[in-house]
Amino acid sequence: MITRRDFVKSASLAAAVPLTGIAQTPSTQQAPAVMRSVRPVVISDYSGWEFKNGGSENAVQRAFKLITSGQDVLDALIAGVNIPELDPLETGIGYGALPNANGVIELDASCMHGPKKRAGAVACLEGVRMPSLVAKAVMEYTDHHLLSGAGAQQFARHMGFTVEDDLNTDNSRRLWREWKRRVDPEHWLDPNGAERQPKPRHEKDPGDEAAAQARSLAAGLSMVRDGLIPEGSFWGTINCNGIGPAGDLCGVTTTSGLAWKIPGRTGDSPILGAGLYVDNEVGAAGSTGRGEANLYNLSSFLIVESMRRGMSPKDAGMEALKRIKANTIEARLLNTKGNPNFNIRFFVLNKRGEYAGVAMYRAGESQFAVCTENGAQTLDLEPLLPGAPGD
Ligand code: GLY
Repeated sequence: MITRRDFVKSASLAAAVPLTGIAQTPSTQQAPAVMRSVRPVVISDYSGWEFKNGGSENAVQRAFKLITSGQDVLDALIAGVNIPELDPLETGIGYGALPNANGVIELDASCMHGPKKRAGAVACLEGVRMPSLVAKAVMEYTDHHLLSGAGAQQFARHMGFTVEDDLNTDNSRRLWREWKRRVDPEHWLDPNGAERQPKPRHEKDPGDEAAAQARSLAAGLSMVRDGLIPEGSFWGTINCNGIGPAGDLCGVTTTSGLAWKIPGRTGDSPILGAGLYVDNEVGAAGSTGRGEANLYNLSSFLIVESMRRGMSPKDAGMEALKRIKANTIEARLLNTKGNPNFNIRFFVLNKRGEYAGVAMYRAGESQFAVCTENGAQTLDLEPLLPGAPGD
């Protein structure tokens, strides 16, 4: 039986073999410009494995199939993430995702095209099921890298995208109502509940904004604990990165962001360098998990820069997790052990086709997806810390 360690080792070695014409360069130098061939690889977080939208293939399988049939790497990756974007069962991405505090689904997405050195992104986009395609349109049709809110929606309409009034499904509406009941039980009753919930006791004035936010987060996390929403859906997101046979690297990240967020809250996913970064000479990295931690540390950029200095994908990812841990000092963000009380994960791919998935904690969503010529599979994430965020 092949162990995960053996697989990664053999995958790395296999990936290295076809790099004909590539001299082993000192780690401080960039890879040579001429890359004759590399074995294609697609990696993503677990949602790229789990969701098929009623079809027969998941995101990494579709992206890999398209890459190996000659499609542009970014087009292939976006076609892959369109599967979970459209899947109503995936409550962290696209159509049917968990909405903001007002019950409105606001979507964030970004994409980067390594060889073209182009990028596009949208933030707080309402009404379009596949924001990754709008991000690509920003990249292709504008001089800009990021459009947000009503302007992003207007742009999408001008580009011919269908703009719907509401991307909620019955499921996402039901979950939003449950969250409202937990946050505001005085006003939102459970029609099936035997008894009305007692009025909650607040340590602070109920009108206090900070207390309201704390209640909102606590209620959301209580829904994760109660198994009503998967932990992976609370901060949503699919990040999918790939390399094609010519050594071209691209990446895409798409999400509904934090469940029940303050309207207008923008996470890491649409911010270049945070939720996604690609340098075609070096590698690609993207993330899922608590976006604020990533926004503060611009971790995807940090990971790619660490690989530029010679680090492996795994070591570069660990470096970013250590940076996040060191910069997390507020008591409200720490568990009883003094460690971050949230999870964050990175999916890292280098120019040689070597890859890694790393996480602050392996608890919860513990695997990531890979597709190579050997087929699609899941592998365990490498954790920085033992235990779980709530320890
Ligand atoms: N990582 C997704 C978000 O925080 O919005």
